[in-house]
Formats: sequence, C-alpha cells, structure tokens
Amino acid sequence: MRLGPYELTSNLALAPLAGYTNLPMRLTLRELGGLGWAVTDLVNARSLLERNRNALRLVARHPDDQPMAIQLFGAVPEEMRDAAVVCQELGAQGVDINMGCPVHKVVKIGGGSAMMTELTKTAALVRGMVAAVKIPVTVKMRLGWDDANLTAPDLVRVLEDVGVAAICIHGRTRAQGFGGTVNLAGIRAVVQAARAIPVLGNGDVTSPEAARHMIAETGCAGVAIGRGAFYDPWIFRRTAEYLRTGELAPEPSLTERVRVMRRHLERYCEFYGEETGVKFFRKVAPWYARRFGPAKMFKQRVVKMTTRADFEAALAEFFEWRKPFCDERGELLAKYQPAPLTASFMRPAGESAGDAGQAIPVPKGPVEFW
Ligand SMILES: Cc1cc2nc3c(=O)[nH]c(=O)nc-3n(C[C@H](O)[C@H](O)[C@H](O)COP(=O)(O)O)c2cc1C
Repeated sequence: MRLGPYELTSNLALAPLAGYTNLPMRLTLRELGGLGWAVTDLVNARSLLERNRNALRLVARHPDDQPMAIQLFGAVPEEMRDAAVVCQELGAQGVDINMGCPVHKVVKIGGGSAMMTELTKTAALVRGMVAAVKIPVTVKMRLGWDDANLTAPDLVRVLEDVGVAAICIHGRTRAQGFGGTVNLAGIRAVVQAARAIPVLGNGDVTSPEAARHMIAETGCAGVAIGRGAFYDPWIFRRTAEYLRTGELAPEPSLTERVRVMRRHLERYCEFYGEETGVKFFRKVAPWYARRFGPAKMFKQRVVKMTTRADFEAALAEFFEWRKPFCDERGELLAKYQPAPLTASFMRPAGESAGDAGQAIPVPKGPVEFW
C-alpha cells in the first residue's frame, strides 16, 4: 500500500489508543512484524508547541519505530500548522489529524467530531497544515455525528482536495460510542468518496479473518487495528501473512506470549523508569493474560505489582497455579482455551456478542466515546 511518498511494508496500521500505544508498545509490535504504519496517541497541538513534558513524551521516537505519524488535535489553525512543522522537525514520517475523537474536552474546544460539522473551516485548517510541511498529512475520523449525519464521505472529498494523503475511518458514529456494529457500508461510502488516496478501515478488527472481511466488503486499501493489537500483539504479523498467502499461521505459544509480555514490561521500565513503568504496566499485563486461558490469579496479582520482582513472582506462581488446567505435557486442556473474539461485523444479524464469543472490550477509563 502506498501512503504519500512511502511504499508501506503492509497495509496494516496501528490505530491510536491513548495511554496504550506509546513507544514501548509500538516497539513491541514492530519487533513482532507485519505493522506497516503506526500513529502516536493524540497530542494537543498547543501542548506540543509549548514543549510540555507530557506532550514530548507522547511524541518520543525511535529508529525502529518507522514509518510513524504523530496525531495532533486542536482547532486553532495556526497552532495546528505550527505543531505540524514541529512533528516534521522531530523526524515523524507523517502528521495525523484527530477529527473523530468525541471525548468531551476535545469536542468542547472545537476539535474532534465537532470539526466534521464545519467543512469549510476544517478545509482551511487542513490546507494550512498541508502547505506547511513536506511529510504527508492524514486524517482519522468517525462516520459522522450520528446516523442522520453521516458526513464522512463529504468530508473526505474536501480533505482530498486540500491535499490529505490518507484517511482512517472508524466505522461508527460519535453517537454510537463503541456500541453496536461497525458499519461496513459506511466505510464503503467513504472509500468510494475518495478519488485516489488510500482509506484505512477501522473498528473491531480482532482477527486476520475480520481484516480480510473488512477489506473485501468495503474495498478499503488496508485496516487500522487498535484494541485488537492489545488483545493480540501478533495480529499484524498473522494478518499480513493471511492476506498475502491465505494461510492462517498458528497462534503463538504461551512461552512466546510471556516472552513478549516480559520484553514489553522491560521497555516500559526503560521508558518510564521502573517505579512508573511497572505501575503503568498493571493495565497492560491483563490484556496479555486474556489469551492465557484461566489466569484469574495472575490478573489479581499484576494489578497490584510495584516492582519487576513482583511481576516475576506473579508469573512463577501463575505457572504453578495453572497446572490443573493443563494436560501432562503442560498444554492447556481444550475446554479451557479462551473463546475467540468475534468482530461485531462478523456476527450473524441478530446475534449478540454474548452468543458468539466476546465483543472487543473498551478498557476502563474516561474513554467511553473514543
Ligand atoms: C482506550 C482508547 C483510546 C483511544 N485513543 C485514541 C486516540 O488517541 N486517537 C484516536 O484517533 N482514536 C483513539 N481511540 C479510537 C481508536 O483509535 C479506534 O478508532 C477505535 O478503538 C476502534 O478501533 P479498534 O476496534 O480496532 O480499537 C481510542 C480508543 C480507545 C479504546
């Protein structure tokens, strides 16, 4: 897939999950392979211009984390333009504009989904950014405010005219939050509205099959995966291979899952320092554990850990604790294998998430409307 001047190694992108898709996470995913394009968590344009400490941490880069874009939000054209220049100076390969983040504070200042209701103003803001930088400017958004206002196709035409290089579309409206089904017809309408630029479909992709289905049904050039990458960091590698060959590679073993989780924690400690790194990792480790089979004991322990030694102790105890769930070779008995997650758009009509595996959960926190 081509994005602006770049030929990506795969048509799979990481969708930003604020608080999760930080540099340690992205490096972990890069190591596993299959990821063609990554985007940082959203960064307030003004905070970046003020060189706010947290903003600078959000835009931290590493040579192994390329190509990547920094995602900006804000509604003041000059700030967005100047912040885009900063992104370029920092060495990012792209700037992504958050237009579909309906979190209250973002909507309040005129960014996020509110932007989609004001096409002309938005076009001017984006034009200013595109003119100020050489790197591609991309946009991430939802289908619109609600079902009666599916504005994304109109917006895409305007954005393409002012020079946006790619669109990432979450197939839900702001009113939907994270509920209901991802609207593949809505994504298709966005794909059809774009003349030449690639459109990445997004929402609920939790398996290679779901990625292929979204591409087949919508004609999107690729998919962006957010929560699915947390649930299964191997998803990019396995999906890239599946799309290329039609063959589904086996799931990673528990040993491999634990190796990668440990490396992920090490990166947290290198990046944030051990005290903060371990504390922040309390919300990451349980995501790995979702694929361990029975892991209640491990989850209870890791949400309280304060040192790396606590993590190692929890792991050692977990390996003992899980023995009754395994056969004599140490393999998890079939009845304890975790049920696969089924993407909302892969479920037969009328079937709820409860009937067919779980829906992809939204992590706890003030994120109901991302
Ligand atoms: C915890 C959380 C944080 C998110 N943060 C952002 C963000 O910073 N910028 C953004 O554009 N979207 C954000 N989103 C939306 C995701 O990028 C994505 O569009 C959405 O989760 C649907 O894709 P998924 O089902 O693959 O996760 C966030 C979603 C969640 C659950």
